Amino acid sequence: MTTDTENICRRLVGRTAVITGAGSGIGLATARRLASEGAHIVCADIDETAGKAAADEVGGLFVRTDVTDPEQVEALFKAAHDTYGSVDIAFNNAGISPPDDDSILTTGLEAWKRVQDVNLTSVYLCCKAALPYMRRQGRGSIINTASFVAIMGAATSQISYTASKGGVLAMSRELGVQFAREGIRVNALCPGPVNTPLLQELFAKDPERAARRLVHIPVGRFAEATEIAAAVAFLASDDSSFVNASDFVVDGGISGAYVTPV
Ligand SMILES: NC(=O)c1ccc[n+]([C@@H]2O[C@H](COP(=O)([O-])OP(=O)(O)OC[C@H]3O[C@@H](n4cnc5c(N)ncnc54)[C@H](O)[C@@H]3O)[C@@H](O)[C@H]2O)c1
Repeated sequence: MTTDTENICRRLVGRTAVITGAGSGIGLATARRLASEGAHIVCADIDETAGKAAADEVGGLFVRTDVTDPEQVEALFKAAHDTYGSVDIAFNNAGISPPDDDSILTTGLEAWKRVQDVNLTSVYLCCKAALPYMRRQGRGSIINTASFVAIMGAATSQISYTASKGGVLAMSRELGVQFAREGIRVNALCPGPVNTPLLQELFAKDPERAARRLVHIPVGRFAEATEIAAAVAFLASDDSSFVNASDFVVDGGISGAYVTPV
């Protein structure tokens, strides 16, 4: 007998998912989660070692891709289609937040442009490359990683990062509306801060910096990457068939909070 739980956990059997930034953090957790739900996984990353390790672990395909390069992005989605016969899910997730992107007062044009390229132009390129396959199939789910900073202001600014994520939100909404009647859904995912090795290292060195952020989170902790991956799996699956053009917030209640519990 098949239980409901077993059904819920195998929602993506036979679907093909392209994941950018699959070598680390949210992308890696999502590769594992979507594979466990039965999807064929295509891992894209600029980091060959990490990306290949992720693909090997989930029995998927690795395509080394710089998401800022139009030809490499085209080749990525073509490889997914050539290998598995469809492109059903595009998780456009690769992103950077370098230290030279800071207050507007100190951030130079080069840093501004680099972050826009990796975080925003890449999402444009990936959507542009994925959509023709999805339109031909009459089916597809695109999930673009934005951030909670796209909907909330911070005094600890990373100006280009924030602006890039705002662009991801607006673009995802527009695409979700434009292609809705062709069976394609496009949602922007807005994670709150995630407990990644980078964040752990930063906050271990500077507990005051961690405390300044933690006080705003109702649940009192950062997210685990697996919790973000679970949201992606929902958006990728037919369980979210009426969720489209949304700012899908997974932030532990940060954006809903005024005074948090002590
Ligand atoms: N970690 C957080 O707290 C948090 C919160 C909200 C949103 N996000 C967003 O989630 C996404 C993933 O973040 P993460 O924390 O998992 O980051 P991460 O640094 O752990 O992983 C990002 C991956 O993207 C890859 N990458 C970087 N530049 C690339 C390029 N040009 N082409 C292809 N791949 C490239 C990296 O090699 C890396 O494997 C990003 O878009 C980030 O902005 C993260």
